[in-house]
Amino acid sequence: MSNSIPTDDLTEDQARAELARLAEALLQANQLYHGADAPEISDADYDALKRRNAEIETRFPHLKRADSPSDQVGARAADGFSKVTHAVRMMSLGNAFDDEDVADFDRSIRKYLGLDDAKPLAYTAEPKIDGLSLSLRYENGKLIQAATRGDGEVGENVTANARTLADIPQTIENAPAILEVRGEVYMSHADFDALNQRQTESGGKTFANPRNAAAGSLRQLDSEITRARPLRFFAYAWGEVSQPLSDTQKGAIDRLHAFGFSTNELTQECKTTDEMLAQYRQIEAQRATLGYDIDGVVYKVNDLALQGRLGFRSTTPRWAIAHKFPAELAWTRLEAIDIQVGRTGALSPVARLHPVTVGGVVVSNATLHNEDYIAGRDAKGGEIRDGKDIRVGDWVQVYRAGDVIPKIADVDISKRPDDAVPYDFPTRCPECGSEAIREEGDAVRRCTGGLICPAQAVEKLKHFVSRKAFDIEGLGAKQIEMFYDDPELPIKTPVDIFTLQQRDAGNLTKLANRKGWGAQSAGNLWAAIDEKRTIGFGRLLFALGIRHMGEAASNLIATHYGSWAEFETAVTAAVTFDGPEWEDLLGIDGVGEVMARALVSAFAQQAERASIDDLVAQLRVEEAKRPDTTGSPLAGKTVVFTGTLEKMTRAEAKARAEALGAKVSGSVSKKTDLLVAGPGAGSKAKKAAELGIETLDEDGWLQLIDGA
Ligand code: IVH
Repeated sequence: MSNSIPTDDLTEDQARAELARLAEALLQANQLYHGADAPEISDADYDALKRRNAEIETRFPHLKRADSPSDQVGARAADGFSKVTHAVRMMSLGNAFDDEDVADFDRSIRKYLGLDDAKPLAYTAEPKIDGLSLSLRYENGKLIQAATRGDGEVGENVTANARTLADIPQTIENAPAILEVRGEVYMSHADFDALNQRQTESGGKTFANPRNAAAGSLRQLDSEITRARPLRFFAYAWGEVSQPLSDTQKGAIDRLHAFGFSTNELTQECKTTDEMLAQYRQIEAQRATLGYDIDGVVYKVNDLALQGRLGFRSTTPRWAIAHKFPAELAWTRLEAIDIQVGRTGALSPVARLHPVTVGGVVVSNATLHNEDYIAGRDAKGGEIRDGKDIRVGDWVQVYRAGDVIPKIADVDISKRPDDAVPYDFPTRCPECGSEAIREEGDAVRRCTGGLICPAQAVEKLKHFVSRKAFDIEGLGAKQIEMFYDDPELPIKTPVDIFTLQQRDAGNLTKLANRKGWGAQSAGNLWAAIDEKRTIGFGRLLFALGIRHMGEAASNLIATHYGSWAEFETAVTAAVTFDGPEWEDLLGIDGVGEVMARALVSAFAQQAERASIDDLVAQLRVEEAKRPDTTGSPLAGKTVVFTGTLEKMTRAEAKARAEALGAKVSGSVSKKTDLLVAGPGAGSKAKKAAELGIETLDEDGWLQLIDGA
């Protein structure tokens, strides 16, 4: 540090270069720290590098790098990799399971775009590689960062490891100044077999399948281990680009190929759904001889301008879908049926199986869904499996589709043991003894114990700390089980997590003095908990574990209301299941009535509400990030559409308005800022006129959003 130029004297170029050096040096220091027994530089030197980095960033904020070490909270923390926030979110894909789903996909796109069936609409079809996705960032043609998908927003920085892959160019020519290339890291069958062979010989760990082997090999703290593993990479998408790669998907892939990436040669353009399905069958027929695992075919709208118009749902693009191959099957013996109690009290039957290999993975558990499924009935009382029930001792057919929990498809009654008896589904909770009841119309039997049921409470807590919820480092499922039963420092409800340190100090139970703990690990836990006192609105809502409130729905609700306070007021006012707040909640695209009812009921329930309020009092809830709408003419405005739109469908208009920061409402009120009225507009236009609300026709609307 001694011979470095004082920050104030740095030129911009020098600063940029030094930030790059610092990012590299700190990354390397982190990796040595984790990979080797002794770090190469002292903590003091490490801190000095970090300080220097921060000083330069303060002076030149616009030079701050996407992979800035200052954003890498706890980069020296035990979990190894530093974190990278993706410049453009890494999406997942919706699924199609049969030809009809593919036809629906095409139909919904046409509907969204307002294209009739006669209009041509081309797609690409390509194999869906069964590996793990990776995003590679090139600046001025140089690879500067590689990150795993993580939760889509934040991934792990695996730059040093990615550099060891022969398929990943270190430099590329004639590329846009900023280019993020995305694709799949995978391992071929032959390389996988050879790796497992070597691992067996050296007494190392073997892998269940090529995907696990690829993931395990990429996520090595020592990049020399990654280098020794035969990983490959197919490029199929991109993130941030400073200049468009092409105007078609196919053209963009060809450019990636020209930059030196491997792209899949089975990628083809298809002009009709029939051609898409033909390509699917073609790829399926070649599946066994490809030499690497694929689990379906991905279709993407070819025209990139249309991709742009179609945009994204919360985690998946509207313009692409994965058509999955049928599941893999195997037969085995059902040894027992266990009942697990989930966080909403659902009694879920789990099949304990004689271990069997299904598609390369050993399976010994499978879900049995619910009591009707075991009895051979569907939710409406109709027959499934020709009415054959499932009994302990039966010979059953197990299947796996993608990553999902294995299921049981069929039973072979001819092999049923003579003493097998029909399964008697419990009517009491096996965990707390409370009555377990089935409400009308519900396929599931639920424990009525609520929070007195330890299984429900523990599962709720486990969900609360899970990766997509509070994600508290060092407080996972195992620790939750331990603290739940802790006589001195119990965690029975979420708020107890945030009062833990206070309680520890208060009665001097001193976690730090316990066996298996120590000052360091207790200190780490307090810090990890404190770090999560500030939490995003969507995450908080998801973490509460309210029935039907998944991650995507929680985020939709968060972006709709923006702040927790506004949401809380609205959801409280909606308790009568009518009125403007209720209508507004139902009006959110993606929120159905069942979900809305569950949400409102949870907040209306006294004990549950008290527990939520106590929790929130311990937190700082961040407002939900609305899309960056600085300068948008619609930011914060409430817009209503009425009448017929001719150049854009309602769905697209609504999505565009929301992307520009507007709230779209179904009815005109004093709160409405803008009415867009097409031909045929009736009472809404009249009311808007009475209230003096600005009204635009479709052309006016298009002009308003043009270029915004
Ligand atoms: S496109 C915005 N194409 O599948 C669309 N994904 O289930 C981004 N995957 O996370 C994905 N092969 O890891 C795309 N040819 C392909 C793919 C592919 C495999 C993976 C990818 C993604 C996952 C979604």
